[in-house]
Order: sequence, then C-alpha cells, then structure tokens
Amino acid sequence: MNTISHHILDRLRRAESFVSGETLCHEFGITRSAVWKHIRLLRHEGYEIQAISGRGYHLEAMTGRPVQAEVQPWLTCQRFGQKIHYHTVATSTNVLAKSLAGEGAPEGTVVVADSQSGGRGRMGRTWISPPDVNLYFSLILRPAVPSIRVPQLTLLVAVAIHQALRDLTLELTPMIKWPNDIVVNGKKLCGVLCEMQSEPDLTHFVVVGIGMNVNQREIPLELQQIATSLLLESGRESSRPALLAAIMNHFERLYDQWLLEDDLAFILPYINNYALLQSKKVSIDQRNQQLTGTVIGIARGGELQLQSEDGTTMLISSGEANLRKDNG
Ligand code: BTN
Repeated sequence: MNTISHHILDRLRRAESFVSGETLCHEFGITRSAVWKHIRLLRHEGYEIQAISGRGYHLEAMTGRPVQAEVQPWLTCQRFGQKIHYHTVATSTNVLAKSLAGEGAPEGTVVVADSQSGGRGRMGRTWISPPDVNLYFSLILRPAVPSIRVPQLTLLVAVAIHQALRDLTLELTPMIKWPNDIVVNGKKLCGVLCEMQSEPDLTHFVVVGIGMNVNQREIPLELQQIATSLLLESGRESSRPALLAAIMNHFERLYDQWLLEDDLAFILPYINNYALLQSKKVSIDQRNQQLTGTVIGIARGGELQLQSEDGTTMLISSGEANLRKDNG
C-alpha cells in the first residue's frame, strides 16, 4: 500500500465518524479523484470503507486480514514485512514469491494470501488452505551464504514462529518438531516450506513459506488426529496480522544474527529445550529409505542426531520424522 493510502487509512481509523472527501483532499493535498483512487486501493486491500454522498468516508471495522496496513502497526523490525503483497486467493504464495524474487523483489518482501488453491507442503504434499481463517505467507530472503547453509533456515524460522506463539498465546506450550513443524498437544499447527534458487557458492534467493492454522474451527476428518489450530487449542481467536508481524519481528533478529554466525550453535539451547523429538524413538522417511533410532539432539548444522539400535550415530539432514509407537 502506498504512503498516502496508509495515511488516509490511519486518518479514517482515528476518526469517530465520517470524514468528508473535501477534508481528505485538503489534509493530504490531493484531488477528489485521487482520494477516490486511494479509497478503491484500500478496499482492494480488504478494507470495508463506507462512502455516503454528502458525508464522506467511514472505516467500518478492522478486517483482521493480514494486509499491510494491519500488519504494519505490529512490526518492530526494519526490513521483513515492510512490503506485503496481499491476495484474497493465490495458487501458492511460495510460487508467487519465487516469481517476484526472480524479478528482483528485495529481501523482506512478503506474499500473503487469504486462501490458496494450490497450497504446497513438503514431500510433494498439498497444504489445505481454506479462506479467511489461517495464515499462508512467504518471505523472500537473499542470504549471502553458501547454499549448503540454507536448510538451517527451516529450523531458524521454526524458532521465530515458536517465539511469536509464546508471546501471543501464553496458555499454550508449542514444541518444535524437526525439521519444520510446530506442534501443540501432539498435533501439527504450522509447517514451513523453504525453497531456494542457488549455485553451490551463491544463494540467489530463498522463499520461506509458512502455513499456520489460526482460527480454523473444523479440521477435515482425515486430519483430525494429526492437525490442529490455535483456536481449537486455546479456545479463542487470534489476530492474524499480529501473529504475522510477531513472526517477522523475531525472525529478522534471528536471521541477522545467523548471517554473522557459521551455523545454528547460537540458538541450539533454545531448539533443544523445545524439541518434540528429543530422546524419542523415531522413524525417518526419506525418499528412498526409512531409518530408525533414538534422537539424541540437533546438531549445529541443523541435522537430527540419531542413534541407531546398534549404537552408531547418524546425522540426518532431511526427511520426515515420525514418533514410533514404542515410546514410553
Ligand atoms: C509442510 O509442513 O508440509 C509445509 C507447509 C507449508 C505451507 C505454506 S502455506 C504458505 C506457503 N505457500 C505454499 O504453497 N506453501 C507454504
């Protein structure tokens, strides 16, 4: 949203009743048709603005949508989320963000959608994305690091999400499930899908896609045993703009520190403290094999440290971890 639209929105938000078109023209030094153009733009962003001839404009209510004007007041970081591309419906925010990144969009640009028709999960899965209740967004990063370090970002953003949840939903105890899930009471609340374009020594860009079930009341039957939402766990609605901003605020700080470090060692105590799989027996599904063992921790490179039954230790860098039934 451009600056004048933003100021007009702020003006309408602070007004107790209608603000006339003439007042807006005068205060912002713009023409009547420019005022109308900004109102149209604000409506396009999801704002419901009533216009009554002879009275002017009135902001009916905050939309609760994760649009720039509603996220911005919560942002305390400098770069992430300063430019948000909002879509009511998108195929996949990751796909749109990759194309924006290819066109040169700066680091910190966010693509957010209120629903996705082709939401993508890890391992080629679909991310079910019903409208108006959840968060689906993708952040563009341009880390000046070798591409081998990029997978660490998945855990790093999981920490940011975890910290944001701890800020905003004190009553819950979220856990980090290697490599990319946030789990509450044993069910998945949030997933991360990182995609990158790179050469071995050079990362062109990374798109960090985050899907979080926020105010979803009903989980599809086939997922009820494994997935949940913040609403179902906390019994109350959460603000999507505030959550998105809190994730950006935490992630920018962690990311800036990570760029100065060689690995995740600086945040490992936090990760291990909230690691769902710590000391658990797991099976790891990889594309062509399945590994089993007991998790002994997370390594500084972000790999899962697994001890197999014969006592050997392995570092697992990718795959899907499942808790085995024989955990105590
Ligand atoms: C997973 O756990 O499998 C990762 C899910 C990631 C879903 C998000 S929703 C926003 C972004 N756009 C996508 O198509 N996927 C990610």
